Amino acid sequence: MSRRIPDLPPNTTLQGRSVLITGANSGLGYSAALLCLQLGASPVYLAVRTMAKGNIARSSLLADPIVRKRNPYPVVEVYELDMCRWESVTSFGHKFVGDRSGAAEGLDIAMLNAGLGNTAWELAPTGNEETIQVNHLSTALLALLLLPLLESSTTPEHTARLMIVSSGQHRSSGVESYPPDNINYLASLNEKKNFSVMRTYGLSKLLIIFFLRELSARVNSNKVIINNVCPGMIKTQLPRKAPSWTAPILWALALREANPVEKGASCYVHAVACLGKESHGLWYRRMRLTPYLPFVTTPDGEKTQKRVWNETMQMLEKVVPGISANV
Ligand SMILES: NC(=O)c1ccc[n+]([C@@H]2O[C@H](COP(=O)([O-])OP(=O)(O)OC[C@H]3O[C@@H](n4cnc5c(N)ncnc54)[C@H](OP(=O)(O)O)[C@@H]3O)[C@@H](O)[C@H]2O)c1
Repeated sequence: MSRRIPDLPPNTTLQGRSVLITGANSGLGYSAALLCLQLGASPVYLAVRTMAKGNIARSSLLADPIVRKRNPYPVVEVYELDMCRWESVTSFGHKFVGDRSGAAEGLDIAMLNAGLGNTAWELAPTGNEETIQVNHLSTALLALLLLPLLESSTTPEHTARLMIVSSGQHRSSGVESYPPDNINYLASLNEKKNFSVMRTYGLSKLLIIFFLRELSARVNSNKVIINNVCPGMIKTQLPRKAPSWTAPILWALALREANPVEKGASCYVHAVACLGKESHGLWYRRMRLTPYLPFVTTPDGEKTQKRVWNETMQMLEKVVPGISANV
């Protein structure tokens, strides 16, 4: 399949749409915020781990000449969100939702983009392995915290959107070697012996795909359209923790395979502005509908999906009692 990312249709617009983007201070998240603003979105909410970085991103977005020309009075707000810590995810969620209801505003589009790839085993302050915490557990919790706001923002003219960024790497997760029923699978992933540089990032993305598929089955696409995007390889800061000796290899790979970050961001916009209800629960790689890892849709995959959903919900219920009622 071609590695080229097509151009967005020329009439693509986000005029007047409100958009929340996590991890919006750099890489794909920043570029997505820029493109949304250039296409008329406002307000755009940047959820970032470090406020100072978020404020720099905000200034640079507002100074962009295309934004100034096409969207002269946009609102861009910065929110703090550290997805390594439960308290930060819940306080962000409650503040963000509370601010919208205080101002009688909705939220048209949520892009859950923040993510990382670790090259060594590291536990987040939650006690969970950090990659799984950020890419799966905190992303899932955010989706649930935002869901009622998104549902209430749907109008006859526009169905609210929840787009989650996954990765083609979910196909290298080795999940087929599925563990026995008498253990908690998610908890087992926190053990150092179960961390693998090659496998854990892909596995974290597969877990969020299972979650998204199950969520999509439970949420009507007339209320919120939920879809899933991978831009293919894009040269960003994602491999920032990779050992320095891998830099030349990554550069060579990027030169051969990577699309520019602006093209990656256009995949996000495509998912929320060009696709409709037909995309609910599905995966779009470089804008093209792409099958998941074949295991995902087998009977064993469906069973694994239910297990991942149940274990995830059990954990999230401990963090936010009653959160299951949001679905
Ligand atoms: N680049 C690719 O080739 C590629 C391909 C497929 C999918 N993706 C996915 O695309 C998404 C964006 O990645 P990127 O390539 O743009 O990488 P990036 O430049 O490293 O951006 C990642 C963003 O996520 C934020 N983030 C990381 N950990 C966080 C945490 N604990 N709490 C809150 N925010 C956190 C980062 O914030 P800080 O700046 O504060 O660290 C940064 O803003 C990720 O989900 C990644 O898995 C990337």
